Amino acid sequence: MKVRKAVIPAAGFGTRFLPATKAQPKEMLAVIDKPLIQYSVEEAVESGIEHICVITSRGKSAMEDHFDQSPELESFLKQKGKTDYLKQVQKISRLAKFCYIRQKQALGLGHAILMAEEFIGNEPFAVLLPDDIFDCPVPAVKQLKDVFAEYGSSVVILKRISQEETKKYGVIKPEQVKPRIFKLKDMIEKPGPEKAFSDLGIIGRYVFNPDIFEAIKKTKPDHRGEIQITDAIKRLLDKEPVYGYLFEGQRYDAGDKAGFIKATLKLALKRPEFAEIVRKSIQN
Ligand code: G1P
Repeated sequence: MKVRKAVIPAAGFGTRFLPATKAQPKEMLAVIDKPLIQYSVEEAVESGIEHICVITSRGKSAMEDHFDQSPELESFLKQKGKTDYLKQVQKISRLAKFCYIRQKQALGLGHAILMAEEFIGNEPFAVLLPDDIFDCPVPAVKQLKDVFAEYGSSVVILKRISQEETKKYGVIKPEQVKPRIFKLKDMIEKPGPEKAFSDLGIIGRYVFNPDIFEAIKKTKPDHRGEIQITDAIKRLLDKEPVYGYLFEGQRYDAGDKAGFIKATLKLALKRPEFAEIVRKSIQN
């Protein structure tokens, strides 16, 4: 079955970015000239996704305005002859069909994804965590969709992580089936170096069979009272296989201040109009 729908969880408080996120969604912070969430939306669209459900929460409606039409702004830009900006603004509102669902309480990533159950219905879907910006020859979600098409099973994207990073990511116990492809035998959320099964961490892209919803419902909250998607995937393993895929390309973790700065610099260096000035500013 074709993967046509995606869920983008964006309901968090953005505490790692305070005070910038006091009255502004983290997902709307600009990396160069686009809000963080737009990178995920564009990646989904380039991967063939048509319907996007953003999981949001109170005080975050700027995201809805961003992907909507802006009649006043558009007519202003038209009047002033700023056709280049006009095209960019119009393109954003035509990227995909959007739906927004509020997560009323911050009960974890698994719980946020569960909010989209009705929107997804009985079909496979992608999940994109907007903190991660991927820069790949083939869009990351498209790479996952190809693995899903081959195995018909849920699949998570993987990256090799350092010992230190085992505190930041879900870590898997792998059984290699092919270059870049692993069957998941077990997994644990943010285990730290002592408890980590391997150096393979789950990062922010997933393709799920709709069976994940039942698995989430059966998953108990962790010690912080949050329902983790990693725990739900582990439950799903009781029923069906799940695969992991080491993607091809670059990924920037813009989920904290240092990562955000790095992502901005790396992406600016790839833009001809900024590369030179960024390089010079760093050297001076
Ligand atoms: C979430 C997941 C974690 C995953 C990470 C990827 O954690 O719970 O398993 O490794 O995203 O970025 P978060 O970064 O939201 O704490």
